[in-house]
Amino acid sequence: MGTLTAQVQLTEAELKLLQTLVYQECGMYFDERRTHFLRDRLQRRLKACQIDSFHNYYRLLTSREGKPELASLLENLTVNETSFYRNKPQLELFQKTLLEDLLRRKQERRDWTLRVWSAGCSTGQEAFTAAIQICDALAYYYLRNPLPFEVPSPKPLIPPPWRLEILASDISYAALRAGQEGIFSEAHMEPVDYTTRLRYFEKTGDRYAIKKALKELVQFDFHNLKTEFLPQRNDFIFCRNVMIYFDEAEQKRLVDKFYNCLNPEGYLLVGHAESLFGLSTKFRMIHRNNGTAYQRIEGNA
Ligand SMILES: C[S@@+](CC[C@H](N)C(=O)[O-])C[C@H]1O[C@@H](n2cnc3c(N)ncnc32)[C@H](O)[C@@H]1O
Repeated sequence: MGTLTAQVQLTEAELKLLQTLVYQECGMYFDERRTHFLRDRLQRRLKACQIDSFHNYYRLLTSREGKPELASLLENLTVNETSFYRNKPQLELFQKTLLEDLLRRKQERRDWTLRVWSAGCSTGQEAFTAAIQICDALAYYYLRNPLPFEVPSPKPLIPPPWRLEILASDISYAALRAGQEGIFSEAHMEPVDYTTRLRYFEKTGDRYAIKKALKELVQFDFHNLKTEFLPQRNDFIFCRNVMIYFDEAEQKRLVDKFYNCLNPEGYLLVGHAESLFGLSTKFRMIHRNNGTAYQRIEGNA
């Protein structure tokens, strides 16, 4: 087969077919404002696969052998923009109020497990930021309320008997691989202050690597938010700047699933431009100093 250079002609109906397939597979909805993006990425995939008709490409996507190509297409349609400490007022609320309350409630119950899920984690900065904030919050909490146990020396990031599990998930394998690697450029590090860099990062050449002890707290894994089987028993779910790419029906379904993926009184944190208004009445809004989070209301299952 020769190299394809010319663009494949696409009809509106063909584009609509692709839009529907993408929506069914991952919930991303490409309305009229975003069809140029869909068209552009489709052309790139056609070229990469050396396929010269939409019909043949669609047949591939919907066949069993076409699964890897479908995954590549979806990956190419995702927007992976992210950063450390994104939406600082919300993270202040997370660390200073929500975490404090949760640590106290859990300690009273002698429940020492803390489970956090970064759903749509991209390259991991959101999950690593949460890990840093939790380590700092635990250290500060036990500075004021010493643990009734002997703490080993040197102090581990997570004082026993606490267990912290952070799951970072995405549908982009490339993003997951980058997160797993945990190495960031100077530009990525811009929001990270120097004391945090010293505690949690190692300089390797002109880049910064997450230190092993912190890295081990975060597990990266593939999860498609469109599916029904999602990680359960979370105390916090961060799903920020993901739902903006879904339509309202899919947002409602997802928020409903998140309700069931949270522990009683667990928290859902959505992006700055997102809200649960009109999507669910099963959460109460917590708003402080420009930071917003949602807490699961009980008796609503
Ligand atoms: C803009 S990034 C947001 C990253 C991070 N949450 C933040 O706020 O900085 C959106 C991420 O959602 C992921 N995503 C989109 N649809 C998804 C789906 N159905 N399941 C899982 N992840 C998805 C994309 O791959 C992308 O990495």
